[in-house]
Amino acid sequence: MQPISTALIIGAGGGLGTALCKQWQQDDNVDSVIAISSRAIDHDNKNELSGIKYITCDYSETAIAETCEQIKTMTDSITRVCICNGILHSENVWPEKRIEDVNLNALQEVFSVNSFIPLLWLKALFPLIKGDADCIIAVFSARVGSIGDNRSGGWYSYRASKAALNMLLKTAAIELARRASNVKLIAFQPGTTDTPLSKPFQAAVKAGNLFTTEFVAQRLVDIMNNQKLDGELSFIDWENKTIAW
Ligand SMILES: NC(=O)c1ccc[n+]([C@@H]2O[C@H](COP(=O)([O-])OP(=O)(O)OC[C@H]3O[C@@H](n4cnc5c(N)ncnc54)[C@H](OP(=O)(O)O)[C@@H]3O)[C@@H](O)[C@H]2O)c1
Repeated sequence: MQPISTALIIGAGGGLGTALCKQWQQDDNVDSVIAISSRAIDHDNKNELSGIKYITCDYSETAIAETCEQIKTMTDSITRVCICNGILHSENVWPEKRIEDVNLNALQEVFSVNSFIPLLWLKALFPLIKGDADCIIAVFSARVGSIGDNRSGGWYSYRASKAALNMLLKTAAIELARRASNVKLIAFQPGTTDTPLSKPFQAAVKAGNLFTTEFVAQRLVDIMNNQKLDGELSFIDWENKTIAW
């Protein structure tokens, strides 16, 4: 495997983002780890996350562009990117059980975080990732964003925002194949993982089906290390199995 010059984690303050930071920070094959989060993270921490370069960003379009300018001064080669941003619930949002639960503000909030913010990152990162070095980008999607796999309904905004994310990524993959063939895009389904996002719904998960963040981060890092630059968007799960669109 080629050495990884810089691994970039966006949304690094969440459960899966934190686990990816740890995974790459402890990997001798990785030169540097840059972590972006909206949360104020202790920059002087002396724990297992020390050595990671943190940048705080509020994910506005301007802040994303400014953050990429800052990243440009920190590295000249990014070879891994994970975009972890995603919400299922928030102060204002709860997954809809039935059509009467749908409301415009919640739809807009969920689409903004789950579909639009990842695309804005891809746009701002484009000049930094285009080049000679292989760059593998994983964006966290979800199996419930599969239209073909939707058998139980519900969760209108979350499902639709992840389906929209997949379409945005597919469109980007077509353009990247033409303009930055060193980049490979993955829409990744982690499986149900023990994080704040899944917490309220974990009671319904069968024993053995709730993963630790460490397990999923390890799986994703392995999968990313074994990708080919095929110009396609792969929609895959933690077992590296393809998911129907
Ligand atoms: N956990 C699961 O079972 C599961 C299953 C399928 C898919 N996923 C996907 O995996 C990804 C990571 O989720 P997680 O399980 O690690 O959940 P989490 O611990 O709740 O992390 C939430 C993530 O979303 C970001 N975020 C939260 N609110 C945001 C906002 N208003 N604007 C922009 N970004 C915001 C956080 O970034 P900051 O660092 O800035 O806080 C963090 O990266 C998500 O895309 C989720 O949809 C998770």
